[in-house]
Amino acid sequence: MSLQPSRPPPELTLVNEIPAHGAEIEALLGRAFGPGRFAKVSERVREFAAFAPDLSFCAVEEGKVVGVVRLWRVRVGDQPVVFLGPLAVEESERRHGLGATLVQRACDAAVAAGEPAVVLVGDLPYFQRVGFAVAPDVALPGPVDARRVLARAPADTVLAGMVQAR
Ligand SMILES: CC(C)(COP(=O)(O)OP(=O)(O)OC[C@H]1O[C@@H](n2cnc3c(N)ncnc32)[C@H](O)[C@@H]1OP(=O)(O)O)[C@@H](O)C(=O)NCCC(=O)NCCS
Repeated sequence: MSLQPSRPPPELTLVNEIPAHGAEIEALLGRAFGPGRFAKVSERVREFAAFAPDLSFCAVEEGKVVGVVRLWRVRVGDQPVVFLGPLAVEESERRHGLGATLVQRACDAAVAAGEPAVVLVGDLPYFQRVGFAVAPDVALPGPVDARRVLARAPADTVLAGMVQAR
């Protein structure tokens, strides 16, 4: 039996989202979340939030978008924060740490941009691995399970009030 040289793994890069990624991202989000995604309270936030392409990233493999994380500039009370979501990874690429890498990259970019407080609506068992905890005093503009309102912020940052436009 002859040994075949193993193929190098496909190169995966994280890049800032640009408009040209839009159609592929929409298709990925459709596959990841299904048609119900527009009913989520996070979508209500995204209707008034300012999209932050400088803090939003795509994972690109062989020219194809296989992961995405988006950040949006909002405030909680008087505190400027960024709102994270959606986060999605192509099913075939999951469980290799890409989701966590995307979240970390977006949070690092937010810190570097002077926006260290990040809020999201998501599952604590997943997001606590990347530094998020329940944010009991953050309110959303619609019904939400309070256990899914999460934040990652410097210890001296007070997050209390409604998520609203800056
Ligand atoms: C959530 C998602 C982005 C994770 O992507 P990923 O690249 O697989 O993430 P990671 O490799 O960093 O982490 C994988 C681990 O998280 C776990 N996980 C995934 N979703 C989870 C959830 N909602 N709650 C708890 N754990 C979860 C996986 O079971 C896996 O566990 P393991 O390490 O013990 O095997 C991906 O599953 C996805 O796109 N899901 C559909 C969209 C979605 O639910 N987005 C999150 C919105 S809150």
